[in-house]
Amino acid sequence: MATKATKAPEDAYTAAPFVPEHADLAALREAAGECRGCPLHRDATQTVFGAGNTHARVMLVGEQPGDQEDRQGRPFVGPAGKLLDRALAEAGIDPGEAYVTNAVKHFKFTRAEPRKRRIHKAPTLREMTACGPWLAAELALVEPELIVVLGATAGKALFGSSFRVTQVRGTVLEEEIHGRPERIVPTVHPSAVLRAEDREAAYQGLLSDLKVAARALS
Ligand code: URA
Repeated sequence: MATKATKAPEDAYTAAPFVPEHADLAALREAAGECRGCPLHRDATQTVFGAGNTHARVMLVGEQPGDQEDRQGRPFVGPAGKLLDRALAEAGIDPGEAYVTNAVKHFKFTRAEPRKRRIHKAPTLREMTACGPWLAAELALVEPELIVVLGATAGKALFGSSFRVTQVRGTVLEEEIHGRPERIVPTVHPSAVLRAEDREAAYQGLLSDLKVAARALS
């Protein structure tokens, strides 16, 4: 009798078995390249692990790599990253001194038609939870003084589905993240600024939140 292939339940998604113990960031990055903890690796070009200063005082956490990041293998190298770098510098945070990563390390997308442009699709809470062990390992190694959470999806990945970025943006939160007491400043995602009708007002809002982060670091 033919046996039916069984699909792992989504609850079983986790990166945990792929995360090496006692690894430095280089070893973590290499191991993340082999992660099969959830199905997102299947369609993405590559894993996009965090990048930047290992001794960074500030860690920025986005949602997931975009199209450019998926192709280049580095976080925030596309239009949203360029806007973020500009806002960081203007707020007084040197982007070159920060560590930048994402809650989810693979690009999730749909295509309206075959060979058409890849359209970003938000990860599910299960996919974000599955990827959590990578972020936990990054936090344990970098030990940032402050985390800047970029947007609602990254916020939900860290705080759960009740997170509302509009309610807490631009404030310094003190919360336990992956078992560590952390200080966090949430703000909007730079892509939301690029999509906003009044882009200048949205940019000024992002800048004002990042200035709160800069003050919290001083
Ligand atoms: N958006 C993100 O959240 N992360 C990236 O790396 C790029 C775009």
